[in-house]
Amino acid sequence: MTTPHNGAKKGDIAETILLPGDPLRAKFIAESFLDNVVQFNSVRNMLGFTGTYKGKSISVMGTGMGMPSIGIYSYELIHHYGVKNLVRVGSCGAYTEDLDLYDIILAIGASTNSSYARQFELPGTYSATASWDLLYKAKQTADKKNIDVVVGNVLSSDTFYSPERDVHKRWGSMNVLAVEMEAYALYCNAAAAGANALAILTVSDSLVSNKNTTSEEREKNFTQMMEIALELA
Ligand code: HPA
Repeated sequence: MTTPHNGAKKGDIAETILLPGDPLRAKFIAESFLDNVVQFNSVRNMLGFTGTYKGKSISVMGTGMGMPSIGIYSYELIHHYGVKNLVRVGSCGAYTEDLDLYDIILAIGASTNSSYARQFELPGTYSATASWDLLYKAKQTADKKNIDVVVGNVLSSDTFYSPERDVHKRWGSMNVLAVEMEAYALYCNAAAAGANALAILTVSDSLVSNKNTTSEEREKNFTQMMEIALELA
């Protein structure tokens, strides 16, 4: 049985999945890093693939941008396909001058300006956190490979373009390191279903310095992020 958004059949998707925002990035990851690749989805061009890495089964699929989009795909992956470990591999914009372009963040927590958690009808503010097991394994892998990572809180924002001024300063004052648009919903969905989630993010731009990455530079650092993520299979 398929879902409205995923043409995979039960059993087509591995217990661990890597989730870039861009479906063409998912294709690139499958082609560059995995063996025995089989494509399982093309609905809405949200390409998904299962293959092996060092002999272990692993999947990779795009999520689209924003929390409604990753919310749909991750919900179906967990509830319909039994996926246990969901690892977002994405980019983020730095909120602090301590972060340089291409730095890698392991998002131990996600804050948000979204109402995503309202669906859970909690009598307070939900703190969305990463799976400790995935985070610990990712940090150990990074250390072993001599890849510097920063562990901290990020903002999952509903907006990329906003008229608000200096938002980064306010979030930065609470030690929120960077902004992206998906981790909070992913962490909520995983927590609500007893699955594990982690967001690994590469700094692609800075809201402090207004610096931006070139595609060549992004490629180099992307490979380091993948070296960490693939070991979570
Ligand atoms: N804002 C939101 N999401 C992002 C950004 C940003 O500046 N950079 C990369 N993802």
